[in-house]
Amino acid sequence: MKAVQFLSKDLPLEVKEVPTPVPADGEVLIRLAFAAFNHLDLWIWQEKVLEKPVISGADGSGVVESVGRGVDKSLVGKEVIINPGLYWGDDERFTGKNFQILGNPTNGTFAEYITIPREYVHEKPAHLNLEEAAALPLAALTAYRALFSRADLQPSDKVLITGIGGGAALYLLQIANAAGASVYVTSSSEEKIRRAIAMGAKGGYNYRDAAWVTKAKDEIGGFDVIIDSAGGDGFAVLADVANPGARIVNFGRTAGNINGLKPWLVYNKQLQILGTMMGTPAEFKAMLEFYSKHKLGPTIDKTFQLNEVNAARDYMNSGEHFGKIMLQVGDK
Ligand SMILES: NC(=O)c1ccc[n+]([C@@H]2O[C@H](COP(=O)([O-])OP(=O)(O)OC[C@H]3O[C@@H](n4cnc5c(N)ncnc54)[C@H](OP(=O)(O)O)[C@@H]3O)[C@@H](O)[C@H]2O)c1
Repeated sequence: MKAVQFLSKDLPLEVKEVPTPVPADGEVLIRLAFAAFNHLDLWIWQEKVLEKPVISGADGSGVVESVGRGVDKSLVGKEVIINPGLYWGDDERFTGKNFQILGNPTNGTFAEYITIPREYVHEKPAHLNLEEAAALPLAALTAYRALFSRADLQPSDKVLITGIGGGAALYLLQIANAAGASVYVTSSSEEKIRRAIAMGAKGGYNYRDAAWVTKAKDEIGGFDVIIDSAGGDGFAVLADVANPGARIVNFGRTAGNINGLKPWLVYNKQLQILGTMMGTPAEFKAMLEFYSKHKLGPTIDKTFQLNEVNAARDYMNSGEHFGKIMLQVGDK
């Protein structure tokens, strides 16, 4: 089968001919149709040097081709997606030491086939096609846990989502909207703010404009929930725009380390600053149910073919996208 293998940050990604995997006991063989990019893929490709090649990719959808011993054969032919959060561990509050995300070190979804333990295979939501379904797993799971399990989102909350162009950020917007909260966004792009408003955001601010914090405080007052996946120098001002008692959740480092956070704002406002990471198997199921109940779907920016993986990587690195970047890996 064809697969995108990664070995070292110093080498280009290559589509290689590799053996098609065979499902072991308890595993499922999926003929993949689509995979999705996440910023995580960029981090791995930019930062890692591995001991042996691994097939990249955390998100994917496809059709069950065959099953290993001990797996119900009625799964064969079903259209499925994969929960990429493997071996979460025993404590729902945080990941255990065996936790890993599909694509490193376990072979991922940028391939024509994948084998994966049955417990990570879920029927795709019926209202989504295979491409739409492949865009969900990692980012929608992270957004779901960030909003509900960590920020304890309430319909009365004013929510701020930073960097709305990102794949995960747009899931935050649609989930918080569907939950009845009032959602505001930040972006480096006026066009992306306009698109977010068209999707249900109440307003937006350009985080490159130093006056955005003052404008937001004048117009909105403050935010009860802030979800950030950028970190960096822009994180500190989130404490300025937070209401007393606000929950600020972070799950990313796109803009680097956090500098300049004022402790007096944190303690005077009694802020909760919370980290989050992917989600538990139960949250994955709950996310799929939420998407089915509210008939939500992803915003797909662009779809590349498997042999265009380097161009797709460069496109994601440019930050120009609005929503998910996809890879068509099969013929569907
Ligand atoms: N821990 C986890 O479980 C987990 C899960 C998912 C993602 N993540 C992390 O979350 C981040 C986003 O992931 P993704 O896959 O959604 O990436 P992505 O699609 O590449 O998102 C990039 C977006 O980040 C925004 N951005 C860049 N610099 C920013 C800044 N200084 N301030 C605010 N926003 C900024 C941009 O928004 P605009 O274009 O609107 O300016 C850009 O569109 C990454 O750091 C990723 O590693 C972590």
